[in-house]
Amino acid sequence: MCGIVGYIGKRNAYPILIKGLHRLEYRGYDSAGVALINAQGQLNIYKAKGKVAELEAYASDKDTTGTIGIAHTRWATHGEPNTVNAHPHYSESERLAIIHNGIIENYAVLKAGLQKEGYSFKSETDTEVLIQLIEYTQVNKHVDLRTAVQLALQQVIGAYAIAVLDKDHPDTLIAARKGSPLVVGVGQEEYFIASDATPIVEYTDKVIYIEDEEVVKLSTKGQSTKGQSTKGQSTKGQSTKDEGIEITTINNVQKTPEIKRLELSLSQLEKGGYPHFMLKEIFEQPRTLADSMRGRVNVRQDNIALSGFIDNKERFMNAKRIIITACGTSWHAGLIAMYAIEEFAQIPVEVEYSSEFRYRKPVINRDDVVIAISQSGETADTLAAIQLAKEKGAFIFSICNVIGASIPRLSNSGCYTHVGPEIGVASTKAFTAQVVALTMLALCIGKEKGTMSEEQYLHVVRALGQIPDKIECVLSQNKRIADFAKTFTYAQNFIYLGRGYNYPVALEGALKLKEISYIHAEGYPAAEMKHGPIALISQEMPVVVVAPRCGTYEKVVSNIQEIKARNGRVIAIVTEGDKMVSKIADYVIEVPETEECLTPLLTVIPLQLLAYHIAVVKGCDVDQPRNLAKSVTVE
Ligand code: M6R
Repeated sequence: MCGIVGYIGKRNAYPILIKGLHRLEYRGYDSAGVALINAQGQLNIYKAKGKVAELEAYASDKDTTGTIGIAHTRWATHGEPNTVNAHPHYSESERLAIIHNGIIENYAVLKAGLQKEGYSFKSETDTEVLIQLIEYTQVNKHVDLRTAVQLALQQVIGAYAIAVLDKDHPDTLIAARKGSPLVVGVGQEEYFIASDATPIVEYTDKVIYIEDEEVVKLSTKGQSTKGQSTKGQSTKGQSTKDEGIEITTINNVQKTPEIKRLELSLSQLEKGGYPHFMLKEIFEQPRTLADSMRGRVNVRQDNIALSGFIDNKERFMNAKRIIITACGTSWHAGLIAMYAIEEFAQIPVEVEYSSEFRYRKPVINRDDVVIAISQSGETADTLAAIQLAKEKGAFIFSICNVIGASIPRLSNSGCYTHVGPEIGVASTKAFTAQVVALTMLALCIGKEKGTMSEEQYLHVVRALGQIPDKIECVLSQNKRIADFAKTFTYAQNFIYLGRGYNYPVALEGALKLKEISYIHAEGYPAAEMKHGPIALISQEMPVVVVAPRCGTYEKVVSNIQEIKARNGRVIAIVTEGDKMVSKIADYVIEVPETEECLTPLLTVIPLQLLAYHIAVVKGCDVDQPRNLAKSVTVE
């Protein structure tokens, strides 16, 4: 949460920073701000409540010159979202400025100490405490800015990605991280820093991923890019020979910067003609799932090869139990995996919310396999959950989308989903790719253990290969879904029902609707309805029932009848050619037939579209729903 971006070089920094903030806005959009040092050595800070566009409007008649600057888009933690609490923050003397992503947990103690020394605070933020501490250290210990940052960070408990400017040194930018991501872009006599590579990609494909407790000093004084070459691959282990970049730890141990080649294209960050990223990402799913399976699912040879599994077969074969840990949509994917792993591999599976798991003193054994699922790879609770499991000796396997993120880095092994950047805050293509990755894993374990028949394995592998085309068929009903979505904008509440593999789909459909349309929605296992939620059914209550023709289909049909008998309005997701449900439901969306374990990959698509269209008709901000951020890097 919170996005940070910085620039030092020869160009005017402001347009680069503003464009970068727009790219990072998915991380938070409560307020935005920018700090620039102009040619006269003035350190100007401009801030505005709300989105980056508000900042642009506010700064339009201000001095936005300067070839060094830092900028921030905020998701509020300490202090309400207003201009005072917006970043950047000045130090007491207004000589330094800071931007910060993360939480300084011991800020109250540090603040009290600084107040005793006569420091005053304008904002309620933990961040202002840090910049005051840096200035206090610099002044009282007579050290340079980098040393002051190092010494201050040694006192900090918590998570941070920070960047600091000093108006007396307009040729130097200092940045550091612990627990929050930070990437440095290396250009020709210019450098960029950002929370992720999206603000950097159009300027350079050379990046350095800063590690925890590292401090990077970027300087244009005496900078030379001679001798640098990273074409085609990582320069692992080589010095950059770039005098402009120095990396140390917070304890001042020198590190060798490792430049990597960025694998990200600009087109992946644009809407490509769609009105919203969410719709683009929903429509990308046939391709993204094909990408996720490429090189792994071999339909001709009816085989799946997952290197993260192959290299660690023994850990899976010896596992007495698999624990899956994740948050939000990723947790729903984990729940689907529980059905698949127990069915195919016959290993008991527990699915845990990371936030609960990490704090409830769980029993973790050395022969447990813990699977962490995370699109961003930075979710704080999931990261902490695997840290705990790793300390107890469990084997950590992660399913992640963002390459090089903290969760895969901490894991023993894993599988990337390869769906490209997911920018809409509501997760869509990441979810289906997680389900595919987990299904592939379940099949690999089941085959290796001999707990599933060869015939069943072949059926599922072949059916998996057909999923992208089948999703195309579902997407072709977009117009019809958009039309009937208009009928439901009156609703205050929705119920979603499903059973077996499609119970997590019901949860996911409800979450999608809640987060982007602000309509309250609950997902239930269909048979649980009788135990309470049925009391809510009335003419006013739309009920979405996920009822493909498999598993407990007949029982779900009975549930639909119970809803209709109480005048509920039913939107049903059924298998092509379904006769029974079509007769009783008010609206029916058909999905092609497939293996039961793969039905979620098809049934979830209409639910994504339904939530999207209802939100659009209601005039909601689909890509950036209120109060949310894409990547939840705080507890
Ligand atoms: O990046 P992660 O997959 O770890 O994120 C987990 C949740 O924060 C995320 O799935 C969230 O629930 C989405 N906004 C749902 O659409």
